[in-house]
Amino acid sequence: MTTVTADVSGRFAIDGTLGVNRLGYGTMQLTGRGVWGPPADQDNAVRVLRRAAELGVTLFDTADSYGPLVAEPLLRRALAPYDEDIVIATKAGLTRQGPDRWTPVGRPAYLRQQCEMSLRVLGLDRIALFQLHRVDPDVPLEDQVGELKALKDEGKIAHIGLSEVSVQQIEQARAITPIASVQNLYNLGNRSAEDVLDHCERHQIAFIPWFPLATGSLAKAGGPLADLATRLSATPSQLALAWLLRRSPVMLPIPGTSSVEHLEQNVAAAGLRLSDDDVAALTSAVAKPV
Ligand SMILES: NC(=O)c1ccc[n+]([C@@H]2O[C@H](COP(=O)([O-])OP(=O)(O)OC[C@H]3O[C@@H](n4cnc5c(N)ncnc54)[C@H](OP(=O)(O)O)[C@@H]3O)[C@@H](O)[C@H]2O)c1
Repeated sequence: MTTVTADVSGRFAIDGTLGVNRLGYGTMQLTGRGVWGPPADQDNAVRVLRRAAELGVTLFDTADSYGPLVAEPLLRRALAPYDEDIVIATKAGLTRQGPDRWTPVGRPAYLRQQCEMSLRVLGLDRIALFQLHRVDPDVPLEDQVGELKALKDEGKIAHIGLSEVSVQQIEQARAITPIASVQNLYNLGNRSAEDVLDHCERHQIAFIPWFPLATGSLAKAGGPLADLATRLSATPSQLALAWLLRRSPVMLPIPGTSSVEHLEQNVAAAGLRLSDDDVAALTSAVAKPV
């Protein structure tokens, strides 16, 4: 049996220049409970990351705040020296006060500090994609995006992304600097960012859906996709991911997992070809958030 790799998901050029395989990987599950502290088994986390790269995953999503300071060091341990096709997309703008506690801080000096820290921790001269994790409501958007533009002008980052933004905020940011990607919550069961996705498609901005598996609810046996999965000889997670890949050419899903077995299953979703009827059945199978 031939192994399906992420190459089969197709290519997308972020900002028209930074090529990635569309099916990526998100590193948030490689931390302790509540995205706090190290994972129980760090060697396993390294195995998952190396297997992802082996299976053709080129886009790795991470953040300074995962752990914090856990996911980025693991990426470096697993993948440095980085192959030239590896794209690490990190983020800044969320601070941590404990398990499951997150507070936005978008003051320019803080964003700059975290960029400098990520460069050091990841062992990079330049961050390929640097995303504003959250817009801080207490700081003008212009100041937050303006600082990312300054970091780009200085060569510290190559492309700028946003996370959890509205169409209006994207346009406000685009008036300052090109926006290469938008990362919003989106999956089969939660399509509230549909307008943002359509906007991204119109402007060829990469749309990176977070919680692509609804933190696992869409992947579990006995879940809302179980019957269709049996009929289509696939797993529920594969259907959820294949549906996303099919939904838009600018869609770059980054499913997270701490298991090599689940990773292999998820990457194989790249090879699943859904018919129009399958897409319609999936679209109506999960009509509300799970
Ligand atoms: N921008 C933002 O604000 C934001 C917010 C949240 C997340 N993110 C990013 O988005 C990425 C994806 O989100 P996520 O990892 O939280 O959620 P997700 O990808 O929707 O789901 C991950 C969950 O699904 C389970 N899972 C994965 N593959 C599976 C499979 N084949 N079968 C059964 N269960 C499976 C995982 O458990 P196992 O570990 O047991 O496989 C894990 O509990 C994150 O890693 C992070 O990079 C960004």
